[in-house]
Amino acid sequence: MLRFHFLWLLVFCSALNSSSARHAPFAMRISCGARQNIHSPPTNTLWFKDFAYTGGIPANATRPSFITPPLKTLRYFPLSEGPENCYIINRVPKGHYNVRIFFGLVTLTSFDHEPLFDISVEGTQIYSLKSGWSDHDDRAFAEALVFLRDGTVSICFHSTGHGDPAILSLEILQVDDKAYYFGQGWGEGLILRTATRLSCGNGKPKFDVDYSGDHWGGDRFWNPILSFGQNADQRRSTESSIKQASKAPNFYPEALYQTALVSTDSQPDLQYTMDVDPNRNYSIWLHFAEIDNTITGVGQRVFDILINGDIAFQGVDVVKMSGDRYTALVLNTTVAVNGRTLTVTLHPKGGSHAIINAIEVFEIIAVESKTLPEEGSPPSSGLFTAEQCIFRKFEYFYVLLIFFHSLF
Ligand SMILES: *[C@@H]1O[C@H](CO)[C@@H](O)[C@H](O)[C@H]1NC(C)=O
Ligand SMILES: *[C@@H]1O[C@H](CO)[C@@H](O)[C@H](O)[C@H]1NC(C)=O
Ligand SMILES: *[C@@H]1O[C@H](CO)[C@@H](O)[C@H](O)[C@H]1NC(C)=O
Repeated sequence: MLRFHFLWLLVFCSALNSSSARHAPFAMRISCGARQNIHSPPTNTLWFKDFAYTGGIPANATRPSFITPPLKTLRYFPLSEGPENCYIINRVPKGHYNVRIFFGLVTLTSFDHEPLFDISVEGTQIYSLKSGWSDHDDRAFAEALVFLRDGTVSICFHSTGHGDPAILSLEILQVDDKAYYFGQGWGEGLILRTATRLSCGNGKPKFDVDYSGDHWGGDRFWNPILSFGQNADQRRSTESSIKQASKAPNFYPEALYQTALVSTDSQPDLQYTMDVDPNRNYSIWLHFAEIDNTITGVGQRVFDILINGDIAFQGVDVVKMSGDRYTALVLNTTVAVNGRTLTVTLHPKGGSHAIINAIEVFEIIAVESKTLPEEGSPPSSGLFTAEQCIFRKFEYFYVLLIFFHSLF
């Protein structure tokens, strides 16, 4: 009987240790200004009623964008309450998180529309709202990947004198500990702020949830783009399933690879340019799958990838590098940008035109060093950690030992 228990514990512990990515990720969503918990359509997503704020006033909200969650309230922070206002959320298990903040507009004509303010997470400024944000879906929120180690997360809003910060919702979504690992230099001292995320050749804005993506993906927003300009490129799409999608650590939805843009004879280079803040480092993630049925094997489509004119990847052959057609390939690189634009160019070298399925760009932000790391209380996740499991194994050995000892 004892032996049976021991084996069971062993199995339980080793299953836990080897599959930390199999239990559901921690997710907390707050509907700012809400007096009750809300389940939002169409996915029945749970939003907690408003809590953890340091001040501010609840009000009715106007959603600035079609992609903003369908919530009816917000919390705004009048300048009279001081330049800095926060949400401080406790009991967040240690981990790696996608933190997303949707902005709102107060439903009252007397209010300044489109407030401009700064946002910091854990004391590091991650974003300054830019004028015109309410006219662009992908600027209706700020989003960043952060490591949370002390059991809390603080998200603060700093007035810049252009209207009162108004927050519609907060989301704290756990992702894989190695999500967006970009190699050398990557780690807990950095925050990755989403600058853009494009789904190429797709016509509709989508979140991971619309794509039936894995919850460990952090429910990313994918902005649709049907052309990089003048319709010089062509769309491709497929219903065929895609191999190697939805893999750790980033769990990209398969559907992301089922649409693409392909260059043409009149415009052989595929080129995407975006505005960026100068003198920053950016992490760029490029997604490919050969979904064009005119390409049947290795060597038929080869292109170079340049970032601001410098070769980042030479001789990219998607079929060769991914191992097959209809198979996902993810490439990432890090670049320093001095100017105000970032341009990704796919330049065909051999065979057919260039192809691309999706683009992600993050601003890499160094975490402001905090005064002293606090001795936070351990999060109560209700699960054994690896260390606890080892301890428990020894505990059982000890019990067994005593048991046998008592027999003789
Ligand atoms: C918000 O709207 C509801 C009706 O939709 C109204 O009863 C309520 O008074 C409004 N609240 C504020 C603060 O304006
Ligand atoms: C990103 O690229 C680096 C090397 O350039 C590589 O070591 C790393 O594994 C890549 N990350 C992912 C998640 O593929
Ligand atoms: C960009 O990265 C380099 C090399 O890691 C680093 O020295 C530099 O401080 C970074 N620049 C910014 C603005 O973070």
